[in-house]
Amino acid sequence: MKTIRASIIGFGAVGQGVAKVILSKSDYLKNIGIDLKVVAVADSRTAAVDSNGLDLSAVLSRKTEQGTVGTDNISGTEIIKTIDHELVIETTPTNIDTGGVGLDNMVAAFEKGIDVVTSNKGPLALKYCELGEIAKSSGSQFKFEATVGGAMPIINLASETLAGNKILSMEGILNGTCNYILCRMMEEHAPYEQMVAEAQELGIAETDPTYDVEGIDTACKLVILANAIFGMNATYKDVTVTGITKITPEALLMAHNDGYDIKLIGEVSGSKINVAPKLVPKDNPLAVGGTLNVASLQTDISGPVTITGRGAGSIETASAILSDIISIYRE
Ligand code: HSE
Repeated sequence: MKTIRASIIGFGAVGQGVAKVILSKSDYLKNIGIDLKVVAVADSRTAAVDSNGLDLSAVLSRKTEQGTVGTDNISGTEIIKTIDHELVIETTPTNIDTGGVGLDNMVAAFEKGIDVVTSNKGPLALKYCELGEIAKSSGSQFKFEATVGGAMPIINLASETLAGNKILSMEGILNGTCNYILCRMMEEHAPYEQMVAEAQELGIAETDPTYDVEGIDTACKLVILANAIFGMNATYKDVTVTGITKITPEALLMAHNDGYDIKLIGEVSGSKINVAPKLVPKDNPLAVGGTLNVASLQTDISGPVTITGRGAGSIETASAILSDIISIYRE
């Protein structure tokens, strides 16, 4: 049995989902040889630290009841720099403009040779290659399945399950908020602004939903896929981006009457990385409803492989984090 000491840095919806999943899967993890001990949890204001392993149920209750995880006055970055552990689970809110504190946390972890599993898109969309190089030179493992498609396992599908296949192109829906808004606009014949509040209530929209509806979130995910699956050296500026803000209920209805849906489609093909609303035949596998994500990979020897699943949500995103943890430490 391997004991892995971990920190959870960032304790919003995803961080709390990770804590719940670690609690519920603790016996399973032990059965496959992983004794995962969380020695530190940090939110934006406080931290809880115990080198013998925290009681995660107590940390979760405290967060719900008091809004904070503990009484220690130490930042997530300081935890990474000063506390002995093997794994950082980085779940701070994403910052697509600068990479934010998540970028600092990842670099701090790699400088100490600590492994990182993250759901944080911003640092990867901005500095994918640099982060990969620092991780490699320090011998750290770096896994980020949770950054794209939530519970839908697209990165590991392409790199592990479809190993040996060349992935020729990819198209899909990588933003549940836009998909939900477009479906609801069609049902209600109302403009997108009215549906944004509904998506926010579902807890899937970005803190600033402009990132969803203008296609920025999809573009960041495409950058990560372009690098991770297609071996490109892409950043956000390489993506052409059109969001859904100009789609009207009338356009959706016209498309519907002709047998089509309008979907926000992200695509990597050749050197082209593109996000734009597109007409999708209603019987096409990409025409998924509600908050679902979908991705269709064209491969050289397997042909098309399409996968769909829940692209957002606390437990769903935590599931992708758990699978990355297991893939690093499984005996
Ligand atoms: N706002 C994102 C979405 C969350 O709607 O898909 C998951 O990255």
